[in-house]
Amino acid sequence: MKKTVLLSLFLVFTLIVSACSSKSSTDETSEGNKEGSGGDASAPLDIFSWWTGAGEEDGLKALIQLFEEKHPDIPIENAAVAGGAGTNAKAVLASRMQGDDPPATFQVHGGAELNEAWVAAGKMESLNDFYEAEGLNDKFPQELIDMVSKDGNIYSVPVNIHRSNVLWYNKKVLEENGLEAPTSFDEFFEVADALKAKGITPLALGDKEPWAATHLYETVLLGVLGAEDYGKLWTGELAFDDAKVVEAAEIFKKMLSYVNEDHASRNWQDASQLVANGEAAMNVMGDWAKGYLVNDLKLAVNEDFGYVPTPGTDGQFMVITDTFGLPKGVKNPEGVKQFLSVLASVEGQDAFNPLKGSIPARIDADIEKYDQYGKDTIEDFKSATLAPSLAHGSAASEGFVTKVNQNINIFVTQQDVGQFTDSLVAAAAELK
Ligand code: BGC
Repeated sequence: MKKTVLLSLFLVFTLIVSACSSKSSTDETSEGNKEGSGGDASAPLDIFSWWTGAGEEDGLKALIQLFEEKHPDIPIENAAVAGGAGTNAKAVLASRMQGDDPPATFQVHGGAELNEAWVAAGKMESLNDFYEAEGLNDKFPQELIDMVSKDGNIYSVPVNIHRSNVLWYNKKVLEENGLEAPTSFDEFFEVADALKAKGITPLALGDKEPWAATHLYETVLLGVLGAEDYGKLWTGELAFDDAKVVEAAEIFKKMLSYVNEDHASRNWQDASQLVANGEAAMNVMGDWAKGYLVNDLKLAVNEDFGYVPTPGTDGQFMVITDTFGLPKGVKNPEGVKQFLSVLASVEGQDAFNPLKGSIPARIDADIEKYDQYGKDTIEDFKSATLAPSLAHGSAASEGFVTKVNQNINIFVTQQDVGQFTDSLVAAAAELK
């Protein structure tokens, strides 16, 4: 009897120890899920993202199709959850991760969103051996590898590079009014006044999901501060009540006086539509908007619409990278690595990115597969100063981004710069 009790206690103890070690280790891999071993090779791969619907899902579908052609034996499921910028998907993901029920692989932005959440919590496998085996270490720009690494280990594979600081404009509307796309804030307000005088909405906004207003705000911050000082906000070297940051809030406030009245009931696609059909002249959005304008609305780059860096950000590139990794405890880690291998390949990146609006993360992709916007952006990326996106989780922790979204939402309606500044100063306590 005693022996049985002791044996059971021992078994329980062993189970607890192994559970703890698999939860807490960040750079070692857990048993049965080592890079290159274990798991159920027939378990389906649920690919988790927020790429559903217009402008979002075409690239993912192309990637999944390529994977199915190459691996007909590995079942794959598109487990996307709708909502721009991960508005809903991130909450679903968090509850799955907390419940130790991770998707086979999931969309996650390089930077804080990956490293300060899932890697820091010990939820991700290191992919160092995978990068080595696939020969990937020199296939991505070092800045991108840095965004998916923590303490010298690599944790995910970038599928793309999106640019946040793009101002899209309806070519006909500007031409007919004798206007040129603005490159500075002064020019922006001159153009906006001229359009307003003609009864045309100067700037389209769709902040039904508040991140879209944060997105506009981050481009203003970059335009006023420049990449270096913008970067200092996330390390605490520049305070949110610095005169320049307050100036950015004033400019952002002024910009809001030129947006469509129904902005709070539109999402980012609806805002892009206003520019597409000439009801509004300009829109600030990441280049997934180009995927939407071209693939869904069938508009032509540089004919129907044009693009310039947002005011004051020429030579600067607000970078967003969508990446996928290998969570600990998945059923089919080998299958996940096969998916990551297709996603990392030139073929995979060139199937995905021309449809998505982004440029390839790989430096050796086939530039001829990209339209003029893609070609220009690939060139710009090489020489531009990079800055991490706030709205898309690269610059700062999720806790901080959530607070900024809340405060931006209040600011858009109340437009009180002092209160907004105080709220950002208070939120900065979330920054590590
Ligand atoms: C993602 C893009 C996506 C956009 C809109 C961003 O956070 O990086 O891939 O297209 O949100 O949903």
